[in-house]
Amino acid sequence: MNTKGTAICITSAKGGVGKTITTLNLAGLYENLEKKVLIIDFDLASGGISAALNIDVNKSIYNFVDDYNNNRYKEFKNYISKYDEYIDVLASPKDPRQASKIDAKYVELIIDKAVYNYDIVLIDTSHILNEINISTMDLVDKLVFLITNDPLDLKNMRSLLTILKDINYGNFKVVLNESVAPFKKYFSLYDIKNIINANIDYVISKDFYIKNIDSIVMSGKIITLDEKMPVLFSKDYTTLMRLISDMYNEEASS
Ligand SMILES: Nc1ncnc2c1ncn2[C@@H]1O[C@H](COP(=O)(O)OP(=O)(O)O)[C@@H](O)[C@H]1O
Ligand SMILES: [Mg+2]
Repeated sequence: MNTKGTAICITSAKGGVGKTITTLNLAGLYENLEKKVLIIDFDLASGGISAALNIDVNKSIYNFVDDYNNNRYKEFKNYISKYDEYIDVLASPKDPRQASKIDAKYVELIIDKAVYNYDIVLIDTSHILNEINISTMDLVDKLVFLITNDPLDLKNMRSLLTILKDINYGNFKVVLNESVAPFKKYFSLYDIKNIINANIDYVISKDFYIKNIDSIVMSGKIITLDEKMPVLFSKDYTTLMRLISDMYNEEASS
C-alpha cells in the first residue's frame, strides 16, 4: 500500500457513551468494505479494545514508545495484534501504570506510521482532555464526537467544542448515541443542538440498544460483522454506513 489512509478519532466529553463499542462497530463496517483497518487504543490507562476482542497482546503502545526511546525499534508490525484478516490492533498498555510513561510527542509518529500501512485508522480514546487526546484530535483527518441525552455530558460537550473552535478545528461530526441509555430522553434534538451550540450529524437510535451486548463482548465478536445485523437493525445500520462512507469519501475527494 502506498496511498495514505484516513485517521479517524472517536471521542467524547464523558465516559460510558459508547466510544469503544462504536469504534469496534465502525471497524467491522470498514472490514465489510474490504478496507484494512488499524484500531489504536489511546485510552491508555483503561483501554478495552484488546479485551473486548479477546486478543492476546504481545507488544503494546508502551513497548513501541519504550523501544523507540531506546533505539530498539525495528518495524511497526512488531507492535500490532491481529484480530482477523482485515482488522489489526495497536493495544493500550497491559499495565495501567505504563500509561503515564507514554509521552504525547509520540502520538504523531504512531499516527503517521499507521496511516501509511492501513486504509483506515480508528483511534479510541478516553474522554479526558489530556495531552495525548489533544495531540490526537489535532492530527487526525476526522473526529467523531459521541454525545448522549445527558445534561452533564452535553454541558461538557459545549465547552469541548468551544475549545475546538478556538483551535480552528472544523473537521468533526457529532453523533447522538441513544443506544447506550435508551431511557434517557430529557432533551429534544432541538434542545441538544442549542446546548452544544453545534449540529447533530447522525443519530444512533435507541433501537440499536443491544440486550445481549455483554455476551457479545465476552465472545470477542464485533456486532457489525454479524450478517444478521443489516436486517435486525436496518435503520441504524444505514446511519452507520452513511457515517463510514462520508468519512472515507470526503477524505478521498479532499
Ligand atoms: N448499542 C449498545 N447497546 C447496549 N449497550 C451498549 C451499546 N453500546 C455500548 N453499550 C454499553 O455501554 C457501556 C459503555 O460503552 P463503551 O463503548 O465502553 O463506552 P466508552 O468507551 O465511551 O466508555 C458498555 O457497558 C457497553 O457494553
Ligand atoms: Mg472506552
